[in-house]
Order: sequence, then C-alpha cells, then structure tokens
Amino acid sequence: MALQRRTPVPALTTIQETLLLTLYARALDSRLPGSILHDMMSDEVVKRLDYDFAKLKASASVVSGTALRGGKLDDIVRRFCRANPQAVVLDLGCGLDTRVFRCDPPDGVDWYDIDYPKVIKLRADVVPERAHAHQVAADLTAAGWLDAIPSDRPAMIVADGVMPFLPEETFQALTRTLTAHFPSGELALNGYTRFAGWSMRYHPAMKALGIRGGEGFDDPREPEGWRAGLTLAEEQLLTRAPEVASFPQPLRALARLMALSTAVSRQGARILRYRF
Ligand SMILES: C[S@@+](CC[C@H](N)C(=O)[O-])C[C@H]1O[C@@H](n2cnc3c(N)ncnc32)[C@H](O)[C@@H]1O
Repeated sequence: MALQRRTPVPALTTIQETLLLTLYARALDSRLPGSILHDMMSDEVVKRLDYDFAKLKASASVVSGTALRGGKLDDIVRRFCRANPQAVVLDLGCGLDTRVFRCDPPDGVDWYDIDYPKVIKLRADVVPERAHAHQVAADLTAAGWLDAIPSDRPAMIVADGVMPFLPEETFQALTRTLTAHFPSGELALNGYTRFAGWSMRYHPAMKALGIRGGEGFDDPREPEGWRAGLTLAEEQLLTRAPEVASFPQPLRALARLMALSTAVSRQGARILRYRF
C-alpha cells in the first residue's frame, strides 16, 4: 500500500500557529470516549499534516475548553441558520476549523472562512471543499476583503479564538465595519476578561508558541459602547455548562468550584452573543 505524503506546514507567525493548537485540541477531544464535540474531521486534518503536534503541550483543560467553546459557538450558528436560511456566515480567523461541516448549514446559506493568505492556502490543501463555502484570504484588519461578501443578507459572524490576538481598538473598528456592512445579524465570540488575556502568557501551551498575552474586556456589555450597534443577547459562562460533566478530573472539580461565582467564572471561558 502506498504511503500518503503528509502536507508540510509552512512557516507561520506565532499568532497563526495557534490555529494548530485549537485544531489539535478538537482532534484530541474526538478521540476521547466522553468527547464533547465529536469532530472526527479535525483528527483527519491533523493526520494529514506534517507537524510536531506534541510540542504544543495541549493540556486536558485546553482540549475540553476548546471543544466546549467550539460546540457552543456551533449551536449559535446552527440556530441562526435555521432562523435565517438565506444568511451569510463569516468565520473570522477560521484557521483549519471544520465548523462548516459540523454546522452543516442549509443550501441557501453562504459561508465565508476568512484568514491570512498563508493559512487559507494550507486550508485548501487539507480541509475538503464544500458547496456554498468560500475561502477569503485576507488580513482581517486590511480594507476591502468584505467587498466580496453580499451585504443584503442577515449575517452570523463568529470569532472563535481570534479576538485576543487583535489589538483592542482594531477589533472594535473591525466590528464597526462588519455591522455597517450587513442589514442585521449576530456576532458570537469567546470572550476573555482583561486578566484572562494578560495571564495567557503563563499558559504552557501559549508559552510553547511564544504568545505574550492577549486582549480582553470585562463587562459583557462593554461592546455596546463600541459604536457598532451591538446589543448583548447572551453571556454563557462555560463553567456552568452541562458538558462540564464530561471533563476529566481534577478539571471537572475545578470548573464546578469556579461555577459557584459569576466573577470567577468570567475569568474562565465564556461565550458572548450580540445582536445588531
Ligand atoms: C487561535 S487561532 C483560532 C483558529 C480557529 N478559529 C479555530 O478555532 O481553530 C487564531 C486564528 O486567528 C487568525 N488571525 C489572527 N489575526 C488575524 C488577522 N488579522 N487576519 C486574519 N486572521 C487572523 C490566525 O491566523 C489564526 O488562524
């Protein structure tokens, strides 16, 4: 039997390389008997890549946390697509995420995966194509990339693991540009507090990649003041999610303890959803 050659990963910036950690975390989650996300396709993508995933030091908390937040964002996207079967979905900083396959939107939905050109090129090599899924090779902070995306349909914008890597002002300006482009929609993201963003630098997986911390905001209503027309629709504190029952110990006990306090839970993972 001929051995299949694995795809080499090009030289990536430290921020781009974080996409391999989240991909690997979803792959590892899929191998667990108590998998949260069941994203077997991520595991297939991992196996196609010639890359030393072990160096990423993906801990149990990264695996469970990434799978859980991914699943919660998927739920939001699916709900939006059910209510708006002609919507557009934008996955900002998509990396090698297979979200479009997990969400399996109806044919009327056009899906746009956006990331740096180098990432989109790698994506084309290892993530299967799909009807109505479009790849946009762009720096999110550059002007013009949105012109290719229809502006007359409701939009579901998802930002999974990207907000902490854009400077605060830049993310706010991006949000204004996005909400001005579409008639209506929702923005869903995994939100970090300022402390959680700062403390990222001490996380073994982030240290392994050389990440020096990230951006965040504390009050979930803060984005309402970004002049982007956002209204908070939902804050989910993931320490209180039912899926915590599948976390391995001692992570489960820690999450249960954190869940007792809203302020402490906010320092962990949270999903924020806004309407515009
Ligand atoms: C932690 S990874 C998350 C990837 C993906 N969302 C996932 O959950 O697997 C962060 C991603 O944001 C992308 N990113 C960060 N800043 C970006 C920018 N200015 N323009 C485009 N993509 C960006 C990176 O290339 C990377 O793919």
